[in-house]
Amino acid sequence: MADGTDTKSSNQMWGGRFASGPAAIMEEINASIGFDKKLFAQDIRGSIAHATMLAHQGIISTEDKDKIVHGLNTILSEIQAGNFEFSRSLEDIHMNVESRLAALVGPAAGRLHTARSRNDQVALDFRLWVKEELQKCEQALTGLIAAFLDRAEEHADTVMPGFTHMQTAQPVTFGHHCMAYVEMFGRDRSRVRHAIEHMDESPIGAAALAGTGFPIDRHMTAKALGFREPTRNSIDTVSDRDFAIEFLSIAAIAGMHLSRLAEEIVIWSTPQFGFVRLSDAFSTGSSIMPQKKNPDAAELVRAKTGRINGSLVALLTIMKGLPLAYSKDMQEDKEQVFDAAESLELAIAAMTGMVRDMTINAARMKAAAGSGYSTATDLADWLVREAGLPFRDAHHVTGRAVALAESKSCDLADLSLAELQAIHPDITDKIFSVLTVEASVASRKSFGGTAPSEVRKQIAFWRARN
Ligand code: ARG
Repeated sequence: MADGTDTKSSNQMWGGRFASGPAAIMEEINASIGFDKKLFAQDIRGSIAHATMLAHQGIISTEDKDKIVHGLNTILSEIQAGNFEFSRSLEDIHMNVESRLAALVGPAAGRLHTARSRNDQVALDFRLWVKEELQKCEQALTGLIAAFLDRAEEHADTVMPGFTHMQTAQPVTFGHHCMAYVEMFGRDRSRVRHAIEHMDESPIGAAALAGTGFPIDRHMTAKALGFREPTRNSIDTVSDRDFAIEFLSIAAIAGMHLSRLAEEIVIWSTPQFGFVRLSDAFSTGSSIMPQKKNPDAAELVRAKTGRINGSLVALLTIMKGLPLAYSKDMQEDKEQVFDAAESLELAIAAMTGMVRDMTINAARMKAAAGSGYSTATDLADWLVREAGLPFRDAHHVTGRAVALAESKSCDLADLSLAELQAIHPDITDKIFSVLTVEASVASRKSFGGTAPSEVRKQIAFWRARN
């Protein structure tokens, strides 16, 4: 029997039917050990649960089970200590572990694969990995939300321009803007939680695709592995990668949010805007232009989104043509998920750091908030409230006031009362009280509006939730 290192010999796992080993190029295209070794802990955990169940059901002896479990724990320590030699000719993590088990405990090892297949084994390992990754994402998003809540609290009264079409629209507060991201990342986190719920079913015991004739107890393994229940259809179980695609979809949406934030940070940190200053810890200098401080971390977060989207599209495309049940195409699922997971983790961590560290230039924000006739809507609203004009007429009157201010290159508040009254006789000097940016934001007390009092309510709501 081959020791697994000799590619010329037939495979020790299925060699019975084969006279010779694979061509070198076959081994190269077939092997997944280069990346699926990441699943070693899940693979060993799954095998321990499976062996324990087999013994409990009287399918293997307790003695064999004990040898298997002991051997698997030894392998776990070997891999963790970096003392394990992975072999490409053994294809994947499952066969690398099983082959080592045979070397460690002898013939008992051969009983471990009773009533299972690599098809349900890989579905199990990968599900366990994705579930843990989702749990990490949940934590990371909670940290990012906490960072935004702190900044929002600190800047509940800091006025900045709100934009639509990237044009100055109405004054808002920086706290309110931060809370918009809290809503976005809060939705991402609920998607993560929902996905954990959704995928919380154990695949092990589906075997190759049809289940098994051995009297296994899939509820027992499900429980031992921390799943809510076993999956219900063995064919679906080995051909399903929805949990991976759901992870990638969630990552793509969260990535899109992170990228929008990254884009804002890039814009805000330009000298032209000057709204924020990134800490040295999250920016880089230029090798030629000494004055520069570049928002590289934000730019890389923006770029990671592209990788994550690519992974989602790749896996959807890998899966779209596959007849039921398992096909080897599905082996290509892992690298996409591993890469996206790494990108997402990094992006969330970098953003959390940037958000916590960046310095807010409140004076610049306030100055910008007042430019561009940002309180024009407040003037129109005043005409509706105090002079009884229909909003459409008030809009027209205000438009004339803006045109006049524009022709004089001044702000609305710089127009004289006489000039304003020439546009509409009902205007009184009370109008000036609504033309400041502070008055503008304070007035927007509608539920979810930008008034500092409202933003503080939303912060309290999220603090209780976070
Ligand atoms: N390395 C394989 C994968 O990742 C394991 C399952 C192989 N199953 C099979 N029938 N060849 O998908």
